Amino acid sequence: MESTRSRLIRLLSKSKESYISGQTLSEALGISRNAIWKHMKDLENDGYTIDAKRSQGYRIVSFPDKVSSNTIRWGLETTWMGHHIIHRTSVLSTQLIGHEAARDNAPDGTMIIAEEQTAGRGRMKKNWFSDKEGLWSTLLLRPPIPPNKASELTLLAAVALREALHELTGLSIGIKWPNDLLIGDKKLCGILTEMQGEQDRIDYVLIGSGLNVNQDEASWDASIRDIATSLKIESGKQWDKKEIVQRILKHFENMYELYLEAGFQAIKPKWEEHAFKIGENINIKTFHQAWSGKFLGITDEGALIAESPDGTPVTLYSAEIAWFDR
Ligand code: BTN
Repeated sequence: MESTRSRLIRLLSKSKESYISGQTLSEALGISRNAIWKHMKDLENDGYTIDAKRSQGYRIVSFPDKVSSNTIRWGLETTWMGHHIIHRTSVLSTQLIGHEAARDNAPDGTMIIAEEQTAGRGRMKKNWFSDKEGLWSTLLLRPPIPPNKASELTLLAAVALREALHELTGLSIGIKWPNDLLIGDKKLCGILTEMQGEQDRIDYVLIGSGLNVNQDEASWDASIRDIATSLKIESGKQWDKKEIVQRILKHFENMYELYLEAGFQAIKPKWEEHAFKIGENINIKTFHQAWSGKFLGITDEGALIAESPDGTPVTLYSAEIAWFDR
């Protein structure tokens, strides 16, 4: 159940500019005016700036500069996505928390955020390095689409994240099939989609994204330093993670609603516009084979179309691609 403090913050967040009287708050929350005053003192101690006027009441002027479900709600411009946030300091993986939340009937659009993951998961069963400087999140969606379309959401996620990060930072960010975000040839963000459902119905999808935000090169050991980058390394600037979350949620909600209305065909051109190496030679690795061939494009469902080793086009649903030798 939502705490009194959260309900208080939610009420005050709704009317950013105007004051709410102690009497109104006390009636809405079912606690005394003295208890409201004590909550305000606690909020101030936690870094909130409260403007209190004897004749008018209270208003929040600013939130503390840290990620929490309350600080994300303040200034969030979505209509439903991210309205339920689960924020943790340290977890094994936000995907695990996502599965638990989904089984406990968490609403569509719930976002799980952790400051640190001790067993972060990457694609292809790889580990995902998750220190305190990054943004590790999982978005829970309950899309009304058949399971064979779930992979389209992974590409959609890459488009939404790229758009949000480009708008916020001005950095030039590309998408590597299927869903890595790169700056130059270094990885900025990885996306992992997990799905639970039956043959003809998706119960829920978890879209996990690992974004390198405020890491310096020294944060990583040599094996990662060569292949990863962060917003800070690229811009020379420290970024506010809650602002990033808000921006991502806004773009994600818009993109997802467009997808539900118009299908993947509305998303595909946006993906293609920023895709690296379409029409060029790439290195392709599947379970059985590795070869070099031209990246011809993606299908209407987001699968990779490339030249096969004998030169004919082949459609791949799962593969790793690269255009450099490491
Ligand atoms: C990749 O291999 O590129 C995908 C990496 C996905 C990492 C994110 S971090 C948040 C979420 N929780 C996890 O354990 N993994 C994803």
